[in-house]
Amino acid sequence: MAIVKIFRQRIFIFSIFFVGIYFGYYWRFTLTTDTKNLLAEQRYTNVGTSVKHCQPKTNIFFMKTHKTAGTTVQNVLLRYANTHELVVGLPATADPRFNYPSGEFFNRTFVRKSEKPINMLCHHMRFHAKEVKAILPDDTFYVTIIREAGSLFESMFDYFHYNCKAFARTPLKSWAIDEFLSQPNR
Ligand SMILES: *[C@@H]1O[C@H](CO)[C@@H](O)[C@H](O)[C@H]1NC(C)=O
Repeated sequence: MAIVKIFRQRIFIFSIFFVGIYFGYYWRFTLTTDTKNLLAEQRYTNVGTSVKHCQPKTNIFFMKTHKTAGTTVQNVLLRYANTHELVVGLPATADPRFNYPSGEFFNRTFVRKSEKPINMLCHHMRFHAKEVKAILPDDTFYVTIIREAGSLFESMFDYFHYNCKAFARTPLKSWAIDEFLSQPNR
């Protein structure tokens, strides 16, 4: 009798186990389907505007700015261009910036020659509207990122610390910004 009891117990445990697996798969499937629908809905709904459905833009000018998540957004744009076979205008030199550190305004001659029309510009430059327009199609979407000045300054103070003589007077320690602000004209 003891053996029968143990056998029954095992059958019971196995049944629970398989019912568990069944529901596990059921819930997993339902969840992923819901998540997919939600994502699809978000993709086509504009948040915060009266426009209900987005139309993808493929001609884009992105004015990259410092310490504003510009590299992250540029990366997203480059990946989008890559997967949609769009042409990104690149600098003619090996530097990934359009003569940017020289202080010169952008010039159409800074862009590497391309056989196909260019869809995107998204590398560092000193903006010159006429010269940018000469490269990109008329329906190009122009966008940039600006950041609240205080937190931008804090970020610049760290990032460009030793590039800027005034900042570099104090070593890059946690107190450096207070020290600088207490005597900015020193
Ligand atoms: C662009 O570069 C060319 C060649 O160096 C120069 O002749 C032209 O004046 C420049 N354009 C602008 C708007 O600076």
